[in-house]
Amino acid sequence: METSPQPSPQTGPFRCLQLLSAGAGGMVWRAEGPNGLVALKVAQSEHQQAALRHETAILDWVDHPNVIRKVQAHPSGAWLALEYVEGAGLKEWSRGKGVARVVEVAARLAEGLAHLHGNGIAHGDLKPSNVVIDDQDRPRIIDLGIARLVEDEPPPAGFRGTLGFAAPEVLAGRPPGFATDLWSFGALVYAMLTGHPPFADRDPAALTYLPLSSLPEPVSALSPGLPRALDELIMGLLARQPDARPGPASLLPEALRQSLRSPPQPILVGMRREREALRGLIVAVQQGEGAVVVLHGPEGCGRRTLAAEIQAAARREGFVRLSLGERARELLPELRAATQPTLVVTESRDRGVIELASRVLAERLRCLVIIVTDRPMVTLGKLGAQHISPPALQLDQVRQLLSAMHRPMDQAEGLLGASKGNPGALAALLSDPVREIVGLSDDERALLQLTARGPMTVEALAERLTLGEHALIDLAEPLLDRGLLVELDDGERLAATLPR
Ligand SMILES: Nc1ncnc2c1ncn2[C@@H]1O[C@H](COP(=O)(O)OP(=O)(O)OP(=O)(O)O)[C@@H](O)[C@H]1O
Ligand SMILES: [Mg+2]
Repeated sequence: METSPQPSPQTGPFRCLQLLSAGAGGMVWRAEGPNGLVALKVAQSEHQQAALRHETAILDWVDHPNVIRKVQAHPSGAWLALEYVEGAGLKEWSRGKGVARVVEVAARLAEGLAHLHGNGIAHGDLKPSNVVIDDQDRPRIIDLGIARLVEDEPPPAGFRGTLGFAAPEVLAGRPPGFATDLWSFGALVYAMLTGHPPFADRDPAALTYLPLSSLPEPVSALSPGLPRALDELIMGLLARQPDARPGPASLLPEALRQSLRSPPQPILVGMRREREALRGLIVAVQQGEGAVVVLHGPEGCGRRTLAAEIQAAARREGFVRLSLGERARELLPELRAATQPTLVVTESRDRGVIELASRVLAERLRCLVIIVTDRPMVTLGKLGAQHISPPALQLDQVRQLLSAMHRPMDQAEGLLGASKGNPGALAALLSDPVREIVGLSDDERALLQLTARGPMTVEALAERLTLGEHALIDLAEPLLDRGLLVELDDGERLAATLPR
């Protein structure tokens, strides 16, 4: 442990006990003063002194339980003493915490952020390491080193902030503002829930361009079962368009707490590459391209799920959804005149749709056309439409899904075989109440599955199961005894007694 035994001109009335961090902003010590422990930021250079003077001035404007409080500061900026918060950094704290607890801490942080914004201050560097949290789950926003009074101070020249948590507009060289903090706050909550920021990449250089050229993977894809409204809120905060982000910050605490009441986002596994490609197209259209996607494949393969996810992402990016109606051709003038990017989703493959799609490509209209269909569309392909087909699920994805649903993993292979990797078929199997019943023969299971959908006559059942009527009654007998089947109409019809 490094210590400085005595108070000194560099540290005022404080005695440094332990070095907490030594970064670009200077050294931070756990230190002891006349009134107990403080966190002492000590400048090592002129530049750092100026920064501490600035941080001190900003702290003089704020007073909130979730923003760090100043204890004392030297007017020269030589040192700044802050209330000392015993506890973990937010990153370590978040590990293994349940969603409700994480969301409550996020809501408290949003209260702190709203207080900053309410006082005209943009933080500029929100991230887990700029939050300290005590053992009562009370977080404080710290490190107001690059915070700025938005109205009074000119925007900084050059990039300031932290890669991974810096909003796309800042990476693009535009001045940061309140909405910039909203993006970083979204990234911070994303990291609390998943363990890493939205564009985690082993290559740090990628963090300089990924937020500019793509959209992040939905947080619910990495943290299955999240409340839908929470997923939507976090992804909304991460919108590329600053004014599309849900704000102001003062609305976030309530929105976060309320979000816990919404039903879980349906679990989505696989299709990673396809989803990423589609998100890339949203960005391309935003930047002035026209794009047409033919989402094709058999029923249940995940086309509509994919389309719905992309639709939600486009809406968050400020796309206007236009409905095709009867006559696709009539939509063209509207597309040409639109001031915002537009989205058209259709399941029709008639001539009008093909014509509209080809105009979008030829005229580079800022429109994303998604055609959900069973098979490829050759003509459109030749004109530049992309074909995307959700691939069948793999064994590890089925396992992932089972684990997210808290189901036994040893069913994975059987389920994969029975569903042939078709997500729709898999979902049907997983929601099949008959599957839960143990000790059934295959024929008994088939009989229960048929009758679980509604009463059927013995005759119809015999036919469906290719059994004689006597054999069917023999098959039903033990199920009637077990109370899994009941007879209706004097035994003419049978019905399963399962929850449907
Ligand atoms: N009030 C505090 N109580 C406890 N620990 C603190 C406190 N303030 C700062 N720390 C610790 O010191 C670290 C650095 O603090 P801070 O971010 O304010 O310094 P910086 O030098 O401006 O930042 P950076 O490392 O981002 O350049 C924090 O991540 C935290 O671990
Ligand atoms: Mg810091």
